[in-house]
Amino acid sequence: MKKWVVANWKMNGSVKLLQDYQRAFFNSENFIVCPPAIYLNNSTSLPLGAQNIHYESEGAYTGEISVSMLADIGVRYCLVGHSERRQYFSETNAQIRAKSSLCLENAITPIICIGESLGQYEAGKTLEVLETQLKECLPDAEGFWIAYEPVWAIGTGLTPSPEEIFSVHAYLREKLSSTKLLYGGSVNEQNVSGILANSNVEGVLVGGASLILEKISFIHRVAIS
Ligand code: PGA
Repeated sequence: MKKWVVANWKMNGSVKLLQDYQRAFFNSENFIVCPPAIYLNNSTSLPLGAQNIHYESEGAYTGEISVSMLADIGVRYCLVGHSERRQYFSETNAQIRAKSSLCLENAITPIICIGESLGQYEAGKTLEVLETQLKECLPDAEGFWIAYEPVWAIGTGLTPSPEEIFSVHAYLREKLSSTKLLYGGSVNEQNVSGILANSNVEGVLVGGASLILEKISFIHRVAIS
């Protein structure tokens, strides 16, 4: 079964990286890149996702970008509720729900990020935390994707074991039978095949490793093989 790769550059990258991606991933299947918003408009040969949008559809919000603007330039996906947005920009579950609904209304697939902190993981509260996040973040309409990203695994080089990931994904699958389920958090060339070795893990969301063309190309080859 072919899996998906979503590359999240965060606040990194350059025109040069964009050009490298255009050469490497032109017409690639099951691949989405989420560069910083400033690069979205000149990368039309790539399947694009945004990293964030505003929770209102328009108005006096200096510096922000609306969902309809993304749709206007052909963006088809958007990360919503990434833990860095929650942590550094105080994004709430209610805002994440509003953003996700707006995406779906504009034919953009929201990739909703959920995940527990280290303290919650160590206290064995992962499923409890996810349950609350799902209850409060999910829009009424279907068509969203979910990325399970343990906060403590993001950018740290640490990951849950494949078995732990599979058991979380089995829980998510039980609740969301037809939703695409991704895993994110320190995915690299070494761990990607183990993480994807379960039918409930349908793809990976990749941060750090997506900044190195050879690494993300390798991960994509594993995902679609
Ligand atoms: P990472 O980031 O791969 O650098 O851990 C993943 C993410 O934040 O989506």
